[in-house]
Amino acid sequence: MSTLIALSDIISSGIEKIAARCAASGDAYPTLDDPYTLANNSVQSRYASDAAPIIAAAYQLIATLSNPDPYLFTWGLVSFFNASVAVASEGCVPDILREAGPKGLHVDSIAAKNKMDPGKLGRILRLLASRHVFTEVSPDVFCNNRISKALCTGNSPTVMMEKPLERWNGSNGTSAMAEWCGIDALKMAAFLVDNVTDPETAHSQEPNKASVQRVFNTDIDFHSWQQKPENAYRRNRFQHMMRSLTYYSSEDASSGGVEWASLPPKSIVVDVGGGIGTLTMDLVAQHQHINYVVQDLPSAIAQARTYWSTTNPDALRNGQVHLREHDFFAPQPLTNPSVYMLRYIMHNWPDAYCIKILSHLRDAAGPSTQLFVLDHILDYLSRDTTGLNDDIPGAARPMAPEPLLPYPDSVTEYGYLMDILMMGELNSQERTLKHFETMFRKAGWKLERVCRFPAPHPQQLICSPL
Ligand SMILES: C[S@@+](CC[C@H](N)C(=O)[O-])C[C@H]1O[C@@H](n2cnc3c(N)ncnc32)[C@H](O)[C@@H]1O
Repeated sequence: MSTLIALSDIISSGIEKIAARCAASGDAYPTLDDPYTLANNSVQSRYASDAAPIIAAAYQLIATLSNPDPYLFTWGLVSFFNASVAVASEGCVPDILREAGPKGLHVDSIAAKNKMDPGKLGRILRLLASRHVFTEVSPDVFCNNRISKALCTGNSPTVMMEKPLERWNGSNGTSAMAEWCGIDALKMAAFLVDNVTDPETAHSQEPNKASVQRVFNTDIDFHSWQQKPENAYRRNRFQHMMRSLTYYSSEDASSGGVEWASLPPKSIVVDVGGGIGTLTMDLVAQHQHINYVVQDLPSAIAQARTYWSTTNPDALRNGQVHLREHDFFAPQPLTNPSVYMLRYIMHNWPDAYCIKILSHLRDAAGPSTQLFVLDHILDYLSRDTTGLNDDIPGAARPMAPEPLLPYPDSVTEYGYLMDILMMGELNSQERTLKHFETMFRKAGWKLERVCRFPAPHPQQLICSPL
């Protein structure tokens, strides 16, 4: 019982702390009934570090108060939750309900618009409402709440259904993320057991021997497979999805961590494997004195051109941002910049491939070029600190009070989920700090320091040439 009381104390004292801080600063902390806005997302992000132990304690309470068997069965069926979010999003339900307004819409009317079966759709929306995505306002009548509003693209459902390649244009990317998770990632998860037990693939470190190859019956790696002409829709969805990772707190992504503001004017930052330039877009908004080059494969750069010419055409016109095709497994053409920046690239590739990418950057680096790697850093979930690289500046972080797991963001952090996603997608992984440090050294880079971000943002690892 003392554990339960300790956990509930963490929750109540944590909420009191947030309430006091909100009262002092005039912030209104959003509830599920509030709209989804950048302003209230930003309030929530400001309190992310205070909220993390509360969320961790709530998860631990659920685990403690549940019988083990139903606890495991509930998690066991969670794939149907992911799939249901994808059904709702694919069927444009969030935008149909956005157009319907706060009174919501009967499921028969929703289904008449998206051509789904009303009986099945109603059951799917009810499952989601039971986990606080959508609200059932009266029997079979659903409306959006703050969470389902995040899935709105802002586009007309009719246009979304008629022009699938344009359905996520101008959106926050969250519906693209929900659909990718509930369709493609879910299938990778379904084949994980086969892949890690089959002697042919069990010990492979090759990106073309992951479970995704079983799903799509291919022998090429996920990113090369996405480049095929028949995968234009998936590729498009993937790049929109990447935007959702920072959209809700884009200011934090570009102002937190590393001291961008202190880079000299006209410094060149190369966003290697930058996708459509999502992170660069955030940085440009706040750090006008820097010049940026976004590099990626041809299809991503083509998509980036559309994205930038509708979102920030001036940055292309005035030369502050250049979009360039480049395969990061080939020698790096842009030599001696201030910074090479790689976000969510290292976690895509097994060590030997990362070392190849980083070695090309090392060969092209000047003596003062910095390497910024933005990725999750995994912690062991033990309170034993033996062998941690806490001597690296910025690496150490405070432990959460017992009886919580050692770090308060263990559940708000995406790292542990992403780690297994990467196993299924590319036979790759998230890494511990020690693992990063060793891998960087093999490629000729010295890990100088770490800039921590509140979860679920990735952390920044700053390196200099060895
Ligand atoms: C997980 S996404 C990260 C995108 C971007 N850095 C971000 O954080 O939004 C991985 C990116 O790597 C790109 N990529 C994959 N293989 C590549 C290669 N050989 N050369 C260059 N880019 C590549 C993909 O097209 C994709 O945009």
